[in-house]
Amino acid sequence: GATVVDEVRRATAAHGGSLTVLAPGEVLPDAASVRSHDLVLLVASRAAARDSAAARQAPERAPQPPHPNDALVAVATDGALVAADGALGLSPDMFVRAHADGTTVVVGGAATGLLYGLHDVVRLGEDAFGDDAPPVRDLPVAPVRMLDHWDNIDVHPVMGQVERGYAGGSIFYADGRVREDLSRVADYARLLGSIGINAVAINNVNVHRTEARLLTDGLADVARVADLFRPHGVRTYLSVSFASPVVLGGLPTSDPADPDVQAWWAAAADRVYATIPDFGGFVVKADSEGQPGPFAYGRDHADGANLLARALRPHGGTVFWRAFVYNHEQDWRDRRTDRARAAYDHFAPLDGRFDENVVLQVKYGPIDFQTREPISPVLAAMPRTRLAVELQVTQEYTGHQKHVCYLGPLWSQVLTFPLAEDATRDVAALVSGLPGRRGTPSGDLPAGGVTAVSNVGDDEFWTGHPLAQANLYAYGRLAWDPEADPIGLLDEWIGLTFPGADPRVRETLHTLMDGSWLTYEAYTAPLGVGFMVDPGRMHYGPNVDGYEYSKWGTYHFADRDGIGVDRTVATGTGYAGQYPSPWRETYEDLATCPDELLLFFHHVPYTHVLHSGTTVIQHIYDTRADAVDVVESWVPAWGALRGLVDDRLHARVAERLTEQVRSATEWRDQLRSYFFRKSGVPDASGRPIY
Ligand code: GCU
Repeated sequence: GATVVDEVRRATAAHGGSLTVLAPGEVLPDAASVRSHDLVLLVASRAAARDSAAARQAPERAPQPPHPNDALVAVATDGALVAADGALGLSPDMFVRAHADGTTVVVGGAATGLLYGLHDVVRLGEDAFGDDAPPVRDLPVAPVRMLDHWDNIDVHPVMGQVERGYAGGSIFYADGRVREDLSRVADYARLLGSIGINAVAINNVNVHRTEARLLTDGLADVARVADLFRPHGVRTYLSVSFASPVVLGGLPTSDPADPDVQAWWAAAADRVYATIPDFGGFVVKADSEGQPGPFAYGRDHADGANLLARALRPHGGTVFWRAFVYNHEQDWRDRRTDRARAAYDHFAPLDGRFDENVVLQVKYGPIDFQTREPISPVLAAMPRTRLAVELQVTQEYTGHQKHVCYLGPLWSQVLTFPLAEDATRDVAALVSGLPGRRGTPSGDLPAGGVTAVSNVGDDEFWTGHPLAQANLYAYGRLAWDPEADPIGLLDEWIGLTFPGADPRVRETLHTLMDGSWLTYEAYTAPLGVGFMVDPGRMHYGPNVDGYEYSKWGTYHFADRDGIGVDRTVATGTGYAGQYPSPWRETYEDLATCPDELLLFFHHVPYTHVLHSGTTVIQHIYDTRADAVDVVESWVPAWGALRGLVDDRLHARVAERLTEQVRSATEWRDQLRSYFFRKSGVPDASGRPIY
């Protein structure tokens, strides 16, 4: 199959350039100060790089001829690079870009670094060729930057084909099998490579019968998919069922301690690697929401994860084992059980027991991808375990890709959240293992990485809502650099997606998108309490009590006097005590708990005064109404762009905005009316209540 170097060669040729591979030790003709081993030299034209963003819009356009005096030179090495100013150690994904005497030089730590450097130049366009500039080094913070697809082969009568998918069917599967025509996947792979994603899991974490077989009978097809991802530096992973030895192997048990079970997994892994030598590994949802796991055999999650890890280990594979484990059969009458506590209670005691090729994949919050949650305390509690943080690009709880909701600011907050008192160990540092970035990870473990659930399907705009593409883009770029300004990344996306557009396009998109996450939060569940989504409509739209008397462990406890969940140590579930200082004290105390998380940690009267100076009830009334005014203002703003962007894209966004206004209005009216009826406290603003 094709390699990353082949892809760089292809991309270079498409832009009118050429690629020369130098022998080890050979000196670059145009950059005599740079010496290395195993060099790859890429030469492309300046005009071509400038035009490449436009070329996305018109891929059939003929490439520009190279300009001999204005060359882009990119160099990859697979070892150390010696530059004029001394030794320069490069990790494989790293690149250095410099500009001197009309020449832009990009040096990659390996072929993948070269690929990322090439995309960096494409992103910069003309700016990569300005005045002479000293070398700039860039490297991804997280070594693994993964997207998980919750795609099924079969179409579920209620869920559809992609679980929590809002962009049509799967790009991988159709008609009960892996697609014959995978050209869409090839485009997707290039897209992922261009934003630095390097791992993809291609099937749902809820592994159903048909999909379980990808691990065995389906391997040849998985190999076809892996062949398409490989040239873009992306390794392929599978979600696997813990019950595979029973379901696929016909064994009587899946017990991790059973030698036959161990042998079954080892043989399965051998077959996978014989077919796909650079296979990434497994993603596993075990003992979670009905999925099989080690509990059935009296074993714990370390036993379960290590079973799979030992099968993958000889081949260099990794197990991403999910920490999303809780009791989904809870009695709503039982107020002492707290779902938020579950991941910590299950996993923190296992710290130090996971093999080195296990990464524990932890959702960013303790509940489930809500619009607002505190950071999962598991992230701070397992210094001897490799951890990855899991985000959700698909908009399950954030408007189903019908609502504009730019999530870059949320993820930026998550990744830069300081876990410890000295504020040097933020989430990004924890999952990165990069010494010196913002602190070092504890111990000598390799890093875990950043993962997220994809929002892509076979929709013509890829993501249903065309503006939801910005979330995919921002996810990749933040996994690369968590300190990047999310609004700056949005601006980058706008520039690349609408090249050369009228300036009003950029302005309007910022108006709609910059604060859209906070606007969404302001018309939905208030002050961190979560949910209030409609179970009957797959978590879309308001239903304040939709989960209140259910088994799912997500309650708001609103009564006539107050609302919120008491998670304090003093009088509540004790969840706040799972955090290290200073967070346990910050959240425990009403005086210091941030407004936006108030109802996550405390049950308070409606008349409780927030730090903002308003009462809880008036906050609920005001912000819901104000937020809908904001959304309404987006309709004419977007309407004014008709003719300035592609007509079909314009129409699709306009149609979704109409739905967003309708849905946000429903949220506003239901929540304002519900809380008036519950509390009897009138709305001081006098706006309508029903
Ligand atoms: C949520 C989501 C499920 C998904 C689960 C998970 O509960 O609604 O569809 O399977 O998260 O992350 O495993």
